[in-house]
Amino acid sequence: MRVLGIESSCDETGVALYDSATGAMVHALHSQVDLHRAFGGVVPELASRDHVRRLAPLLLDVLAKAGVQPGDLDAIAVTAGPGLAGALLVGCGLAASLGFALEIPVVPVHHLEGHLLSPLLVTPAPTFPFVCLLVSGGHTQLLHVREVGRYELLGDTLDDAAGEAFDKTAQMLGLGYPGGPEVSRLAQFGVPGAVRLPRPMLESGNLDMSFSGLKTAVRTAVERAGAPSGNLCEQARADIAREFVDSVVEVLTAKALAALARTGLSQLVVAGGVGANIQLRASLQDRLGARGARVFYPPLDLCTDNGAMIAFAGAVRMTRLPEATRMAATEPLRVRPRWTLTDR
Ligand code: KG4
Ligand code: ZN
Repeated sequence: MRVLGIESSCDETGVALYDSATGAMVHALHSQVDLHRAFGGVVPELASRDHVRRLAPLLLDVLAKAGVQPGDLDAIAVTAGPGLAGALLVGCGLAASLGFALEIPVVPVHHLEGHLLSPLLVTPAPTFPFVCLLVSGGHTQLLHVREVGRYELLGDTLDDAAGEAFDKTAQMLGLGYPGGPEVSRLAQFGVPGAVRLPRPMLESGNLDMSFSGLKTAVRTAVERAGAPSGNLCEQARADIAREFVDSVVEVLTAKALAALARTGLSQLVVAGGVGANIQLRASLQDRLGARGARVFYPPLDLCTDNGAMIAFAGAVRMTRLPEATRMAATEPLRVRPRWTLTDR
């Protein structure tokens, strides 16, 4: 089965072709990072317009690379939500029209399901059930993944997502956008413990998280270190970055371990952009290894948004949940900017 995947929920335009018979994946991506950099964040209208410009060329590129004609496609998987309404509409518009013209099913995919199933593309892959730590720019969740489509929310952020905290911290430290990789790089030069920041909800006794207070604490630390001139020396910035990363990593690691303990499971899947963070990976490796648990990631280039994870999730749904997927494909395709993973 050849499934075309389309992703346009935020600031990456992704198209992919997954062949479930051979496991072959061809994908093409255009990141809008340069377009939004000057604004320090994603501008929704610019994002939508850029998806319009990029989608068709990416589609032609993928088909050419795979040596596949449009008529050879069996289905189209498209991100229907959550995300920016206008941006989602662009991808869904293309998917719906292609599906109509080619007379093939269009499968609406939940963006986070794309992220959480993407580690199954790696060998060895995790087996169901597992715990998923989903850490992206918009979400920070712990999920009990029983099977495809059977997800139970174990813990969530009460306010900002971890990725959002990375991006805002980067802004306060005068670093570029997106902030995660830049904060992570600068943190490597910081002295551990030179600055003290809180570990929010570390002792809360549940699996929820909160990163908004940490962001405020970073602002206070920046003001203190830079006062009165407002200029922050390089070492002070690195020290704050280091402590920020240490705090986020400590909280995420502790909550992930607690989720494994609560569910009695020994496999952790980490998905979403923050999953690319090297300090988080080192910490999880260290702490989980000591407990005989294993951690799984998507391929590094599939940690952030892409079309491959959407094509794959669509194919997995069609194989494992054929009836529900067939039903979903017969309904009018609608975008769902707000869509919780557990509500399917
Ligand atoms: O999953 P993703 O590409 O998009 C969403 O669906 O949100 O995640 C983007 C987020 C951004 O906040 C970005 O700063 C963060 O992932 N990120 C990182 C790293 N790479 C990307 N955060 C920390 N360390 C990284 N290496
Ligand atoms: Zn994402």
